[in-house]
Amino acid sequence: MKNIAIFASGNGSNFEAVTAAAIGGKINAKVSLLVCDKPEAKVIARAARLGVPVLMCNPKDFQNRAAHEAHILAALKETGVDFIVLAGYMRIIGNTLLGAYGGKIINIHPSMLPDFPGMDAIGKAFTSGASYTGVTVHYIDEGVDTGPVIAQQRVEILPGDTLETLEERVHRVEHELYVEVLKRLCDRI
Ligand code: GRF
Repeated sequence: MKNIAIFASGNGSNFEAVTAAAIGGKINAKVSLLVCDKPEAKVIARAARLGVPVLMCNPKDFQNRAAHEAHILAALKETGVDFIVLAGYMRIIGNTLLGAYGGKIINIHPSMLPDFPGMDAIGKAFTSGASYTGVTVHYIDEGVDTGPVIAQQRVEILPGDTLETLEERVHRVEHELYVEVLKRLCDRI
Protein backbone atom coordinates (compact mmCIF):
# COMPACT_ATOMS: atom_id res chain seq x y z
CA MET A 1 0.00 0.00 0.00
CA LYS A 2 1.32 3.45 -0.97
CA ASN A 3 1.83 6.20 1.52
CA ILE A 4 0.52 9.58 0.34
CA ALA A 5 0.92 13.13 1.65
CA ILE A 6 -1.58 15.70 0.41
CA PHE A 7 -0.58 19.37 0.28
CA ALA A 8 -3.46 21.86 0.46
CA SER A 9 -3.96 25.54 1.30
CA GLY A 10 -7.71 26.08 1.18
CA ASN A 11 -11.10 24.47 1.07
CA GLY A 12 -9.93 20.88 0.72
CA SER A 13 -12.70 19.26 -1.31
CA ASN A 14 -10.11 17.36 -3.36
CA PHE A 15 -8.28 16.39 -0.17
CA GLU A 16 -11.53 14.96 1.13
CA ALA A 17 -12.40 13.11 -2.10
CA VAL A 18 -8.98 11.44 -2.26
CA THR A 19 -8.80 10.65 1.46
CA ALA A 20 -12.33 9.21 1.54
CA ALA A 21 -11.49 7.03 -1.48
CA ALA A 22 -8.35 5.76 0.27
CA ILE A 23 -10.23 5.06 3.50
CA GLY A 24 -12.93 3.27 1.51
CA GLY A 25 -10.34 1.05 -0.20
CA LYS A 26 -10.93 2.49 -3.66
CA ILE A 27 -7.31 3.68 -3.86
CA ASN A 28 -4.60 1.33 -2.64
CA ALA A 29 -3.03 4.00 -0.44
CA LYS A 30 -3.05 5.60 2.94
CA VAL A 31 -3.23 9.37 3.26
CA SER A 32 -0.79 9.66 6.14
CA LEU A 33 -0.23 13.42 6.22
CA LEU A 34 -1.83 16.72 5.29
CA VAL A 35 0.73 19.46 4.70
CA CYS A 36 -0.90 22.87 5.00
CA ASP A 37 0.63 26.36 4.81
CA LYS A 38 -2.41 28.40 5.96
CA PRO A 39 -3.53 28.16 9.60
CA GLU A 40 -7.07 29.35 8.70
CA ALA A 41 -7.64 26.82 5.87
CA LYS A 42 -10.89 24.84 5.93
CA VAL A 43 -9.02 21.71 4.93
CA ILE A 44 -7.70 21.39 8.50
CA ALA A 45 -11.15 20.60 9.89
CA ARG A 46 -11.65 18.01 7.15
CA ALA A 47 -8.36 16.34 8.13
CA ALA A 48 -9.41 16.23 11.78
CA ARG A 49 -12.75 14.65 10.81
CA LEU A 50 -11.03 12.05 8.60
CA GLY A 51 -8.27 11.29 11.12
CA VAL A 52 -5.35 12.55 9.01
CA PRO A 53 -2.43 14.15 10.91
CA VAL A 54 -1.66 17.74 9.90
CA LEU A 55 1.76 19.30 9.43
CA MET A 56 1.11 23.05 9.69
CA CYS A 57 3.99 24.72 7.96
CA ASN A 58 3.48 28.46 7.73
CA PRO A 59 6.14 30.00 5.44
CA LYS A 60 6.24 33.05 7.72
CA ASP A 61 8.03 30.89 10.28
CA PHE A 62 10.91 30.14 7.92
CA GLN A 63 13.69 32.23 6.42
CA ASN A 64 13.26 31.09 2.85
CA ARG A 65 11.70 28.45 0.61
CA ALA A 66 14.58 26.01 1.09
CA ALA A 67 14.20 26.08 4.89
CA HIS A 68 10.41 25.72 4.62
CA GLU A 69 10.74 22.74 2.30
CA ALA A 70 13.52 21.14 4.36
CA HIS A 71 11.15 21.10 7.33
CA ILE A 72 8.41 19.51 5.24
CA LEU A 73 10.84 17.01 3.71
CA ALA A 74 11.97 15.81 7.14
CA ALA A 75 8.34 15.07 8.07
CA LEU A 76 7.70 13.28 4.76
CA LYS A 77 10.75 11.07 5.28
CA GLU A 78 9.81 10.33 8.86
CA THR A 79 6.29 9.35 7.75
CA GLY A 80 7.65 7.24 4.88
CA VAL A 81 5.73 9.15 2.21
CA ASP A 82 6.00 7.69 -1.32
CA PHE A 83 3.93 10.22 -3.20
CA ILE A 84 2.95 13.89 -2.94
CA VAL A 85 -0.51 14.93 -4.08
CA LEU A 86 -1.09 18.67 -4.50
CA ALA A 87 -4.71 19.65 -4.00
CA GLY A 88 -5.12 23.41 -4.08
CA TYR A 89 -1.64 24.05 -2.63
CA MET A 90 -0.96 27.70 -3.43
CA ARG A 91 2.83 27.61 -3.41
CA ILE A 92 5.46 26.77 -5.98
CA ILE A 93 7.35 23.58 -5.21
CA GLY A 94 11.07 24.31 -5.09
CA ASN A 95 14.25 22.35 -5.64
CA THR A 96 14.37 20.73 -2.21
CA LEU A 97 11.12 18.83 -2.68
CA LEU A 98 11.51 18.40 -6.44
CA GLY A 99 14.94 16.90 -5.87
CA ALA A 100 13.72 14.42 -3.28
CA TYR A 101 10.39 13.53 -4.90
CA GLY A 102 11.05 14.14 -8.62
CA GLY A 103 8.43 12.35 -10.73
CA LYS A 104 6.41 11.62 -7.62
CA ILE A 105 4.53 14.89 -7.21
CA ILE A 106 1.22 15.34 -8.97
CA ASN A 107 -1.14 18.28 -9.23
CA ILE A 108 -4.70 18.92 -10.32
CA HIS A 109 -5.68 22.06 -12.21
CA PRO A 110 -9.18 23.18 -13.21
CA SER A 111 -8.60 23.70 -16.95
CA MET A 112 -7.45 21.83 -20.03
CA LEU A 113 -3.79 22.79 -19.68
CA PRO A 114 -1.99 24.50 -21.37
CA ASP A 115 -5.16 26.62 -21.51
CA PHE A 116 -5.75 28.92 -18.52
CA PRO A 117 -2.79 28.20 -16.23
CA GLY A 118 -2.44 30.02 -12.91
CA MET A 119 -5.07 31.50 -10.63
CA ASP A 120 -8.82 31.70 -11.33
CA ALA A 121 -8.70 29.20 -14.19
CA ILE A 122 -12.45 28.52 -14.12
CA GLY A 123 -13.31 32.24 -14.08
CA LYS A 124 -10.93 32.92 -16.96
CA ALA A 125 -12.46 30.11 -19.03
CA PHE A 126 -15.99 31.32 -18.22
CA THR A 127 -15.35 34.92 -19.30
CA SER A 128 -13.29 33.92 -22.36
CA GLY A 129 -16.33 32.75 -24.29
CA ALA A 130 -14.83 29.26 -24.74
CA SER A 131 -17.32 26.44 -25.27
CA TYR A 132 -15.50 24.09 -22.93
CA THR A 133 -12.93 23.93 -20.21
CA GLY A 134 -11.89 20.92 -18.14
CA VAL A 135 -9.57 19.35 -15.61
CA THR A 136 -5.93 18.29 -15.88
CA VAL A 137 -3.91 15.99 -13.63
CA HIS A 138 -0.17 16.29 -14.25
CA TYR A 139 3.27 15.67 -12.83
CA ILE A 140 4.86 18.87 -11.70
CA ASP A 141 8.13 20.48 -12.70
CA GLU A 142 9.69 23.89 -11.89
CA GLY A 143 6.97 25.84 -13.72
CA VAL A 144 3.46 26.92 -12.75
CA ASP A 145 0.91 24.38 -14.01
CA THR A 146 3.40 22.81 -16.39
CA GLY A 147 4.81 19.25 -16.42
CA PRO A 148 3.75 16.05 -18.18
CA VAL A 149 -0.01 15.50 -18.38
CA ILE A 150 -1.35 12.26 -16.89
CA ALA A 151 -5.06 12.71 -17.61
CA GLN A 152 -7.50 15.34 -18.84
CA GLN A 153 -11.25 15.54 -18.94
CA ARG A 154 -13.35 18.10 -20.77
CA VAL A 155 -16.21 19.96 -19.13
CA GLU A 156 -18.63 21.72 -21.51
CA ILE A 157 -19.57 25.32 -20.76
CA LEU A 158 -23.33 25.39 -21.27
CA PRO A 159 -25.35 28.40 -22.49
CA GLY A 160 -27.22 28.67 -19.17
CA ASP A 161 -24.13 28.35 -16.98
CA THR A 162 -23.25 30.85 -14.28
CA LEU A 163 -19.73 30.86 -12.86
CA GLU A 164 -21.12 28.96 -9.85
CA THR A 165 -22.78 26.16 -11.85
CA LEU A 166 -19.64 25.76 -13.96
CA GLU A 167 -17.43 25.67 -10.86
CA GLU A 168 -19.62 23.02 -9.32
CA ARG A 169 -19.39 20.79 -12.40
CA VAL A 170 -15.62 21.28 -12.73
CA HIS A 171 -15.08 20.39 -9.07
CA ARG A 172 -17.21 17.26 -9.39
CA VAL A 173 -15.08 16.14 -12.34
CA GLU A 174 -11.91 16.96 -10.38
CA HIS A 175 -12.92 14.70 -7.51
CA GLU A 176 -13.66 11.78 -9.85
CA LEU A 177 -10.61 12.23 -12.05
CA TYR A 178 -8.15 12.61 -9.17
CA VAL A 179 -9.41 9.42 -7.53
CA GLU A 180 -9.30 7.54 -10.84
CA VAL A 181 -5.71 8.66 -11.61
CA LEU A 182 -4.46 7.92 -8.10
CA LYS A 183 -6.05 4.50 -8.19
CA ARG A 184 -4.13 3.75 -11.40
CA LEU A 185 -0.83 5.18 -10.13
CA CYS A 186 -0.99 3.41 -6.78
CA ASP A 187 -1.76 0.07 -8.42
CA ARG A 188 1.19 0.48 -10.76
CA ILE A 189 4.05 1.81 -8.66
C1 GRF B 1 -9.10 23.00 -7.30
O1 GRF B 1 -9.88 23.61 -8.30
C2 GRF B 1 -7.78 22.53 -7.85
O2 GRF B 1 -7.86 22.12 -9.18
C3 GRF B 1 -6.95 23.78 -7.75
O3 GRF B 1 -7.34 24.37 -6.54
C4 GRF B 1 -8.67 24.00 -6.24
C5 GRF B 1 -8.70 23.41 -4.87
O4 GRF B 1 -10.01 23.12 -4.44
N1 GRF B 1 -5.54 23.48 -7.86
P1 GRF B 1 -10.24 22.32 -3.10
O5 GRF B 1 -9.45 23.07 -2.01
O6 GRF B 1 -9.73 20.94 -3.29
O7 GRF B 1 -11.71 22.36 -2.82
